[in-house]
Formats: sequence, C-alpha cells, structure tokens
Amino acid sequence: MSFRSFAVAGAGGMGGEIVRALLGTGASVLVLSRSPSPDVTANAQSTASAMEALARSGRPAGDLDHAAAVDVKRALVDYTDEDALAQLLQDERIEVIISALRGGGFLAQDALARAGKRAGVQLFVPSEYGVPTIGRTTGTSVAIHLKTRIHQDTLKTLQLPFCIFFNGLWMEYWALILGLPNETNTAIVVGDGEMPVSTTARPDVAKFMAHVLTTLPKDQLLNRVFRIEGDRRTVNEVVSVLSKLTGIDIQKRHLDVESTKATALLPQNDPAQYVQWLAAEFAQGTGTVSFDAVTGRRDLPTDNALWPQWNPVRLEEGLPKKL
Ligand SMILES: NC(=O)c1ccc[n+]([C@@H]2O[C@H](COP(=O)([O-])OP(=O)(O)OC[C@H]3O[C@@H](n4cnc5c(N)ncnc54)[C@H](OP(=O)(O)O)[C@@H]3O)[C@@H](O)[C@H]2O)c1
Repeated sequence: MSFRSFAVAGAGGMGGEIVRALLGTGASVLVLSRSPSPDVTANAQSTASAMEALARSGRPAGDLDHAAAVDVKRALVDYTDEDALAQLLQDERIEVIISALRGGGFLAQDALARAGKRAGVQLFVPSEYGVPTIGRTTGTSVAIHLKTRIHQDTLKTLQLPFCIFFNGLWMEYWALILGLPNETNTAIVVGDGEMPVSTTARPDVAKFMAHVLTTLPKDQLLNRVFRIEGDRRTVNEVVSVLSKLTGIDIQKRHLDVESTKATALLPQNDPAQYVQWLAAEFAQGTGTVSFDAVTGRRDLPTDNALWPQWNPVRLEEGLPKKL
C-alpha cells in the first residue's frame, strides 16, 4: 500500500510545486502555513524571469508554465504550538509530512516532527532538495548544518522515519550562483569551473517526489534517500549554454576556492554566504548527487531510473532565456 494523505509545510517556491504535483496524482493534500491565505502560485508567478526576481529579491521565481492555479485545503499553523499542530495532523489523518520550509523554518521542523510523531504520522520528508547533506557536520554553511540536524538528530531520536530527496542545484538558481545579472555580464566562477554539478528544474523535482511518494509501497520509502538529477554539467558548460540561450557573450571571473570558502564560513548572517559556500563546494567536486560525505565516494548511482517515464528538462530547456 502507498501513501495517500500529505501535509506540506511552507507554501513557498518548492512547497507550491510539491502541492501541485501531489494534487496531480489525486492525493489528499493539506498546506500548512503561518499566513492566513498563502497563495501557492504566488512565488512562481511573481516575476517573468528568474533573473529579474534575483535582481529584486535575491530569490529566483519558478517556471510560469507550472504556475497553474490550484484549489487546496489550507491550515493556519503556529510552529510554536505543538499541541495544536499534533491535533491538526491527527484530525486530518496525515500520513506524511513534507517540509518545504526555509530560513527560520529549518528550526521549526523540530516542532513539526515532534507533533507529527505524536499524531501518528508515518513519514517525514525534511526540507532538502539540494546537494547531499548526509554526514555534513563540519565545514558547512549554517543552512546545511540546520538541514543535516533534522534527519541526523531530531528524526532519529524521535524514531520517525524520513525520506530525503537530493537533486543538486535547481536550474532556476544558476544565475544566483554565477552572480548574474550584472553590468558587465561577467559570471563569477569559483575555481576552474571544470567540476560537474547536478542540476534539476524545480517542477521536475516535485513531480518525481509526488510519483514515488504515492506509488512506492510504504516500506520502500522509510529512511530512504533519493538522488535525482535532470542534468549534470560543469560550471563552464552552464555559462556557455547560458550565453547561447541569452545571446550574450558572458565573460568569466574566476575566484580562488579556499579563500571563497573561508569567507563563506565566517559567522555572518548573510544569505550570500550560502551561495558562496555552494559555489566553493561545486569547485571541490562535491556538487553532484552522487557525493556521499560519509564514505567520500563521488560515484553513487542516481535514482532516475526508478521512474523510467520521468523526463526532466535538460539544461538547455531549464535555464532562463534572458538576463
Ligand atoms: N537546490 C536548490 O537550488 C535550492 C534553491 C533554493 C532553495 N532550496 C531548498 O528548498 C527548500 C525550500 O526553499 P524555497 O526556496 O522553496 O523556500 P521559500 O520559497 O522561501 O519558502 C519557504 C517557506 O518556509 C516558510 N518559512 C519561512 N520562514 C519561516 C519561519 N521562520 N518559520 C516557519 N516557516 C517559515 C514560509 O512558509 P509560510 O509563510 O507559508 O509559513 C515560506 O513560504 C529549502 O530547503 C531550500 O534550501 C534549494
């Protein structure tokens, strides 16, 4: 038997995509949000291009094609009220909690997991959706440290099974990593740009998640890690494809890996740090979903073949077409 009843916490960019994909499978979905009427399409519709969004807010928008309006059940939640959260999850007979929280929401995942455990939830999907974090306890950015903690500490202590999805960098986020757009059309490349990086479009991540979470037998999802990618390219290749798509001759400025990483790990509270850390990770060859920090292996197989009909967009289709 597979799972049918889901709560998705955080109606942001990823959360909105997950909700749409789950509804497409016919599953029952409850959106948890701190906002009275979150619009799960708002993030994706807010700008015409990822580049414009980046310039304005530092957060790329999604693909407009995937921003179909959805009618979904919503619940207003307060992550500091665990009793109310547990009651809600129990009343709604939630089987799976999917977290798509970010920022301060990484910390709220603890209360959500505890409430889920009390409510009899069977599976918790922590907010990951990027580079592999398992075993990343030292030398990481604050965001990665918080991500690792939920599955390595909280969920294990609670004995609440988890299911994790690693997909590399979202295609929508390449401009952010490259420091584009800027006046000179110069991409910032940490290191020589020759290391491969996994990259997947956000809607494709959500579709894969919804498919496996609603079709695989429950016992095949407990404490399972999925490694998926739409494409795997070097940073230099990404810049080249972006140049072709935009018709702009994008130049490159290379930064030293060690000093970039050292700056990224300084104790500031700056979102740019995470970007710097990621770019340095890419340069060090740990930017694919095949990386495992525990063993040091960089050749773990992907799980793409698990769903042969999954047809994720390649870089040429997933990158923005204008700067
Ligand atoms: N692979 C990649 O390239 C990539 C890129 C970006 C993000 N990610 C990852 O994807 C996940 C989701 O990111 P996103 O970009 O979709 O995030 P987002 O659009 O910022 O949405 C996150 C949601 O978290 C909730 N939230 C924010 N602050 C919170 C707080 N203090 N307490 C409780 N809830 C809070 C908000 O939901 P409500 O307001 O509805 O409560 C918000 O809509 C994160 O794990 C992030 O690291 C991956």
